[in-house]
Amino acid sequence: MKITQNARRAWKITLDYTNMTDLALGDEGISLKELHKRKKQAQAAHAYLKENRGKAELSLGWTELPYCQAESVKEMLRLARDVRKRCDFFVVLGIGGSALGASTIFNALCHLHHNELKKAERKAPKFYVEDNVDPARMRALFEIIDLEKTCFFVVSKSGSTSETMAQLLIVSSALQKAGLPFKEHLIFATDKGKGNLERFAKKFGPIDCLYLPEGVGGRFSVLSPAGLFPAAVLGIDVKLLLAGAAFMEKLNKPADLQKNPALMGAVLQKICMERGKNISVLMPYSDHLKCFADWYAQLWAESLGKGKTLDGTPCQVGQTPVKSLGVTDQHSQLQLYAEGPFDKVVCFLSPQAYEDSAPVPDFSTGIPDLDFLCGHSLEELISAENRATAYALTKAKRLNYTVKIPTLNPFVLGELFYFFELVTAYTGYFLNVNAYDQPGVEAGKQAAFALLGKKGFEPLKEELDRSKSDPRFRI
Ligand code: PA5
Repeated sequence: MKITQNARRAWKITLDYTNMTDLALGDEGISLKELHKRKKQAQAAHAYLKENRGKAELSLGWTELPYCQAESVKEMLRLARDVRKRCDFFVVLGIGGSALGASTIFNALCHLHHNELKKAERKAPKFYVEDNVDPARMRALFEIIDLEKTCFFVVSKSGSTSETMAQLLIVSSALQKAGLPFKEHLIFATDKGKGNLERFAKKFGPIDCLYLPEGVGGRFSVLSPAGLFPAAVLGIDVKLLLAGAAFMEKLNKPADLQKNPALMGAVLQKICMERGKNISVLMPYSDHLKCFADWYAQLWAESLGKGKTLDGTPCQVGQTPVKSLGVTDQHSQLQLYAEGPFDKVVCFLSPQAYEDSAPVPDFSTGIPDLDFLCGHSLEELISAENRATAYALTKAKRLNYTVKIPTLNPFVLGELFYFFELVTAYTGYFLNVNAYDQPGVEAGKQAAFALLGKKGFEPLKEELDRSKSDPRFRI
């Protein structure tokens, strides 16, 4: 599909950071002079990403995803056509970065009650992302799916995550017991040439495997088969998602801070961190972007929450991400943002138009406190609440900025993913940390291996046994 210049212009997201500046916030705001001082550092971050674009050994494979997947997309579309024809249920098995992309795309671009729609209206299988191993959830899943009509998409980059592997074993055993061929019910996404998923496929195959491009970490994998294949099964235009990401990549070509939205976003967040704003709130005013806040939370937390700099010097950096939904959380969290500790920066995701308007009819009650709403719409109400919240925070001199979303479609979603990935990468550069590793997560994974008796982890098991809770400290 050819995307016209007009469409690109109409679908461009915009970073509005007026409410971060001293113009809006006085002394609490960031001055142009201060931004000017950051220019050189910003240019260095920009040059680093430009020079190392696509380098798998630096975990920058994600930067090339909009451009390097033509063959893989063909394969995904072929497999997706088949799944759509055969299956009534599509279940993603994965966790963290291997699940959040699929959930976010599903939430953003499908009907909010997709699974409750009739088959003819849904035009795609019912969709589930099983990103936890709570036994109640597994049982509940098995109670509602028809195994014969289910495709399980198992996503694990490492092919060794206990949660996903345990799910795979449960599902495989159920398929085997039901006499159903793996080939028709399992599809894998994993790193090529390593890990247990490939081994499993070789032993019990044929099983279709989609490969995650090299140098793409879990939380940067949404635009790889981890997110794109589920999107294709849902009938979402994956090429448009990639085109949106490519468009954002181009928007961020200028090295000039004032012309580069992601670079500016990163500089602003870095200044906030230096000022002790250790909490980053993402507040979409859209139910379709509720999961986007989950996706962002992982990206921001795992990439930037680090205990040592690139040269090994101990540090304690990062910002705690908080997920907040407009309007809902105005009625639970906003009080804290406006009057509590001044340790937060709020980013609004603000649709400039909603797909539906939901007019409030002229149902005159004669009660003036109700009748003022007549003739308006829920679209007007949610937009007004968004503006009002930004205004209230600004009045309280609280740092906030807005990413304006012209409309929500695959192109714009691709832009959003790539934008926040870039902001994260630049911020990692400013903090001088490796934004692509997760030693803290690995430590937990290894401890779980030890507790479950995996071979080679015996010393860790002994250590864990020694560290059992002490009865003196139990009440
Ligand atoms: O972002 C990350 O690296 C993690 O959240 C991983 O995605 C998560 O731990 C799952 O790992 P894997 O895909 O190897 O099963």
